[in-house]
Amino acid sequence: MPATIIVGTQWGDEGKGKVTDWLANEMNMVVRYQGGHNAGHTVIADGHLLKLHLVPSGILFPHITSVIGSGMVIDPKALIKELDELGKIGINNPNLVISSNAHLIMPYHKILDQASELKLGKSKIGTTGLGIGPAYTDKASRVGLRMQDLLDMKIFREKLATALDFKNQVITKIYGLEPLDLEEVVEEYQEYASRLKDMIGNTVLLINQALDSGKNVLLEGAQGTMLDIDHGTYPFVTSSSPIAGGACSGSGVSPMRIKRIIGIVKAYTTRVGSGPFPTEQDNEIGEEMRKVGGEFGTTTGRPRRCGWFDAVIVKYSAMLNGLTEIAITKLDVLSGFEKIKICVGYKYGGEIYNHMPFHQTIFHNCTPVYEEMEGWQSDISRINTYEKLPKAAQAYVNRIQELAGVPVSMISVGPDRVQTITRKVPENLVRRELQRQSSP
Ligand code: GDP
Ligand code: IMO
Ligand code: MG
Repeated sequence: MPATIIVGTQWGDEGKGKVTDWLANEMNMVVRYQGGHNAGHTVIADGHLLKLHLVPSGILFPHITSVIGSGMVIDPKALIKELDELGKIGINNPNLVISSNAHLIMPYHKILDQASELKLGKSKIGTTGLGIGPAYTDKASRVGLRMQDLLDMKIFREKLATALDFKNQVITKIYGLEPLDLEEVVEEYQEYASRLKDMIGNTVLLINQALDSGKNVLLEGAQGTMLDIDHGTYPFVTSSSPIAGGACSGSGVSPMRIKRIIGIVKAYTTRVGSGPFPTEQDNEIGEEMRKVGGEFGTTTGRPRRCGWFDAVIVKYSAMLNGLTEIAITKLDVLSGFEKIKICVGYKYGGEIYNHMPFHQTIFHNCTPVYEEMEGWQSDISRINTYEKLPKAAQAYVNRIQELAGVPVSMISVGPDRVQTITRKVPENLVRRELQRQSSP
């Protein structure tokens, strides 16, 4: 049975949690493949509002096996807190398996993340401050501690002693902060180990065996394509690979086993933290989007920067991820705007760029080229078929589809599971998409 990937196409917070939860009903397994608790995925179902950070967004379904994949970085304290929160709404002992290869976020990662941001001052990345970057740095430097180290505290202690020796020098000598105490950290993580040890397992085998036996597996991305370490707006990115390619490495699933790649596309654009954002509306338009769309960070509470839909970015995402379909989210938030703009290119130095420019100076300093579309004035949040949407909303959806070159199979008109419209993808578009993917 082939696997499905859900991937963010913009700068995160596209509504991946909502769509994952919605699709989870027909899945047997949901796997998070990268990132850590920097992610904040909101799921609203059966009267519950859940803000998930580490746990996959299929957790509400008892029939689902939830997997934390090897590409993730895990703060065990944050994970236990999340499990406790789930327990409060009756989800006790969820069927959750954590990869033994996933890396641990250690207390010094958080300290170093925050201290480095402070030092950068105006040039800061605007990270979540949760230690994500330093944890991935240690992974790449091969000095990280992993979930499996929690199963042997003797090894854990040895590895930690080596790491801490160096980290404490940086913490004290570069940043002038207090050093961490080895015994205190060991004691803290010993407690986490006793709570989590039974959940640590061989997730690569588990996922592949599930696929072999015909089970439906969904790989749930965090962050978004423009935050990708290789292909995003570097250095204003996260430290992992949220794109579809990252789904394979972060879960241990071969690209040959992927059939559907669903791009989650917010009907406008948002971004949290620093970095270029050509269509940003730092004015009453952006303010309106933020207010109506509730655009405040799920993890940090920071106001999200808001702007018009950028088709150049989504076209770039379609190419990088090989999207087979698109789910448009938050279409309801645009109701009431008289005119709606779509960015179809960037103007810079007398030239027009219709593709993502290869040099970031262009992206930083370009002026968006906009198309203007008619808005719609009625509430669409209770509409459940595409045909009942106002004609202007239909035209907007179809224009996104045309510009991205990928069929729109889902339209979300509200945060609740039930506020989702599905539509059969027109056959000619599927053909065009398949042709696009097979052409050089
Ligand atoms: P994620 O990180 O991609 O999972 O997205 P977040 O959960 O951080 O942010 C999306 C926000 O939009 C959440 O508060 C969702 O409840 C909400 N949301 C998702 N889909 C829709 C939608 O179609 N309409 C509206 N109004 N809100 C939505
Ligand atoms: P979800 O999964 C939006 C952003 C941070 C910052 C940059 C680097 O909910 O879509 P990091 O802490 O990862 O080193 O911060 O990435 N960022 C996100 N923005 N949604 C997210 O996750 C994000 N996770 C990280 O704001 O700009
Ligand atoms: Mg989010």
